Amino acid sequence: MIAAMERGKSMGIVVKEKQFHLQTGKTSYIMMVNTKGILCHLYYGTQMENVTIGSIQIEKETNVDSLPVECAVFGTGDYRIPTVEVELENGSMANELRYKCYQIIEGKPKINGLPSTYAKEEDKVSTLIITLEDQYADYEADLIYSVFPSYNVITRRIRYRNTGKGNQPIKLHRALSFSLDFDQDNYELLQLSGAWSREKTVYKRPLVPGIQEIDSKRGISSAVQNPFLALLGETASEDMGEVYGFNLVYSGNFAGTVEVDPNHRTRVAMGINPFQFGWELVPGQEFETPEAVLVYSDQGLGEMSRTYHKFYRERLCRGSYQFKERPILINNWEATYFQFTEEKLLEIAKAGKELGMELFVLDDGWFGHRDLDDSSLGDWMVDYRKLPNGLSALADKIDTLGMGFGLWFEPEMISIDSKLYESHPDWCIHVPERAPQSTMHQRNQLILDLSRQDVCEYVIRAVSSILASSKISYVKWDMNRSMTDCGSISLNKRNQREFSHRYMLGLYYILETITSNFPNVLFESCCSGGGRFDPGMLYYMPQTWTSDDTDAVERIKIQYGTSLVYPPVTMSCHVSACPNHQVGRLTSLKTRGDVAMCGNFGYELDATKFTEEEKQQVKAQVVFYKEIRPVIQFGELYRLKSPYDGDGNEAAYCYVNEEKSEAVVFWYQILARPCSRLQRLKLKGLVPQQKYQILGTGVTAYGDELMKLGIERFIENGDFRSEHYVLRAVPM
Ligand code: DGJ
Repeated sequence: MIAAMERGKSMGIVVKEKQFHLQTGKTSYIMMVNTKGILCHLYYGTQMENVTIGSIQIEKETNVDSLPVECAVFGTGDYRIPTVEVELENGSMANELRYKCYQIIEGKPKINGLPSTYAKEEDKVSTLIITLEDQYADYEADLIYSVFPSYNVITRRIRYRNTGKGNQPIKLHRALSFSLDFDQDNYELLQLSGAWSREKTVYKRPLVPGIQEIDSKRGISSAVQNPFLALLGETASEDMGEVYGFNLVYSGNFAGTVEVDPNHRTRVAMGINPFQFGWELVPGQEFETPEAVLVYSDQGLGEMSRTYHKFYRERLCRGSYQFKERPILINNWEATYFQFTEEKLLEIAKAGKELGMELFVLDDGWFGHRDLDDSSLGDWMVDYRKLPNGLSALADKIDTLGMGFGLWFEPEMISIDSKLYESHPDWCIHVPERAPQSTMHQRNQLILDLSRQDVCEYVIRAVSSILASSKISYVKWDMNRSMTDCGSISLNKRNQREFSHRYMLGLYYILETITSNFPNVLFESCCSGGGRFDPGMLYYMPQTWTSDDTDAVERIKIQYGTSLVYPPVTMSCHVSACPNHQVGRLTSLKTRGDVAMCGNFGYELDATKFTEEEKQQVKAQVVFYKEIRPVIQFGELYRLKSPYDGDGNEAAYCYVNEEKSEAVVFWYQILARPCSRLQRLKLKGLVPQQKYQILGTGVTAYGDELMKLGIERFIENGDFRSEHYVLRAVPM
């Protein structure tokens, strides 16, 4: 079988007898099939030209529990976490996968029904599919690797198949997207964890023997754990050392597991959460898993982030706004909440327009009879009490002001107090004969059963008819509760465990249909803030509301954590009122502006209430952001100071455009300290021999001076201070 393996070579993939060598511009990923036919992992790291030595351990090892494998199974000697668990028709759970064949495809095939990164012809992407089979059972696994040479990215996923020889169904209890074995355990695990309004806090901890895991059982990827983890080598920091990043392109229940075994080796596995998961495959059927995006960096977290940022901007996000500068918006949520009139909205929009803002967003409360969060979800019909002239009249008036008009929806939901519930009480997720949870904690609402086609079609119709009815150029797609009572009356008893994934397939179908039918609408995803800030949603919607916490100080940490994986252009960040509504903190308008400008900028307050002085300040902020917008949204991000280091009192960033001719620096200090107030900040990402002018300061200096000596500043006394600088290359 192994001898029959051909010699193959394709751009980025070299196959030599028993070895598969995946090469990006900077990395190598090597696998080999051992004498027993087990596909083993040999290496992932900086690029290697030649691999001639192979591995005696992999060839001779008789104990599978010690082998580094590419797809792990349980029941036949490997006691670590498996990648897949299959229950056969006779109820047995012992699995054994052996190499069968491979195939190389030019380009990257789409995944049926799931979001994924994509390749363009110029990327010269190749895809390797290695098929493994269980000789005692009727199933196979296709291990699918796509190699992006110029992006330094490898994507992985697995397709499981009932080969149907025995004419019996099989049941997947676990069907992860990948697992990867490392031959050492001296790593730190980095994860992005938190809660509502405290999303993506950076946590690092040394690996210890046993299992360490992040996961979601909430039906959304969640604010509690993001579907991302990284292993950091012993010397890894922001700019140095080895980092392995793993990010799942999925928005539902997931698990990212790291296990250190008794031999001090490490296994990383990721995919749909096996908890309460099950999937029946009848003969001939296949199960597609979500894709994982693997990034290796030997220059620390900074390079890992820049790799993810560029890749996601260019090969995950789509649509007419992908490369377009995003409008500066003003949103009425924190200005009015549910209590507004058409007149009030127009006043806010007009005030925003006078200050240079480009888009007015009407948030929650415009439909049904929604005066609180306890009614009307599902009834996507305008509330004439609040908008007596209708939605399209309001949209027209905003258009006449010269602004775009955006609208909030929460299409996956249904309120018990709604017409929709009256006519379709069975459309919500529920367990028959059990009252579904819709307490205050679940925001008094239920979730529609998107595993059902008829419900999905309703959502598409309801949202589309509003979008077609008025001049709407932006949609905020919200989702404000976790799932309970999981199951569907459309599934039979044997298939109830398929529910959570079927919900995701329904949601992705809806998103694909609506976003492609309205290609000129800018979609922003939201899940009580960043509760579904993941690559799955970014595939359909190129920006996400980063957090419901709009306090500038809180946002420094939230945005820093988010920036580890997700590009600044995808992070929506707004200036809100003072005192802040979430934490009551007082911060200056300058600091609030400087924090929000680090991403996709906007305002969320009552702009009619600004004083004259504030108006001048806001006007200047808007003009400034328009100037720096291309660098922030499409440049490269260099993190200079972390709010997670030391006492967490400072943070700083430097954004540099692709030509390295322009840079924007933001520097924050949280609390004033009674020592020297003269500080230096070393920049990154500039051209050492290039001279740069620091605008407005009269200072010019070479890139290497700015990076080695740094820029100087004298900090004024007071808490919550911020500075920004713009650097331009001086023609030489
Ligand atoms: C939660 C969102 O995160 C907020 O920005 C706002 O849109 C509310 N929902 C509206 O209900």
